[in-house]
Amino acid sequence: MKDLVRMRTSLKEETERILNEQIKMEAHSSAIYLSMAAWCDRNGFDYSAGYFYKQAEEERSHMLKIFKYVSDLGGTAVSPEVTNVPQEFEGFRDVFELALQQEIAVTNSINRIVATARQLNDFATDQFMQWFVQEQIEEEYVARRAVELFDVIGEEGVGRYMIDKAIPKITYGEAAE
Ligand code: FEO
Repeated sequence: MKDLVRMRTSLKEETERILNEQIKMEAHSSAIYLSMAAWCDRNGFDYSAGYFYKQAEEERSHMLKIFKYVSDLGGTAVSPEVTNVPQEFEGFRDVFELALQQEIAVTNSINRIVATARQLNDFATDQFMQWFVQEQIEEEYVARRAVELFDVIGEEGVGRYMIDKAIPKITYGEAAE
């Protein structure tokens, strides 16, 4: 029966496996952003908290997008177990540095999926993942700009207050226009 079902889907087992890993990674990102939002709230960085709440929702939407793709193609989408979510961070800047690291790790993972899809001649998955390739350009840009604010503005005096206020104003593609 399993083989028959497999014959009815063009989704290869390897693709299904790596997409499920990505589902888990997006869920993990969402959970980390949520804990970052809570940390920012606890420490008086209200604007940054709002930024991370929004990021948490976005990551969940990324997770669902891949989840539905696997499911729609007849594969088994696995509802992910999310563990190992840090609740404490060393400081305001560390939160954003970790967020940037997280986005770079996601970009690398997305690239690996595209490379695998191409090796397997899985053109549908290749094309599907292009949305994520583009999305990561934006996500990495915003995360990097956020970290840069710590150097541009500086943390002394009212610096952190100013950084917090500037965080939600970072938008991709507008500064250079
Ligand atoms: Fe869904 Fe920010 O990676």
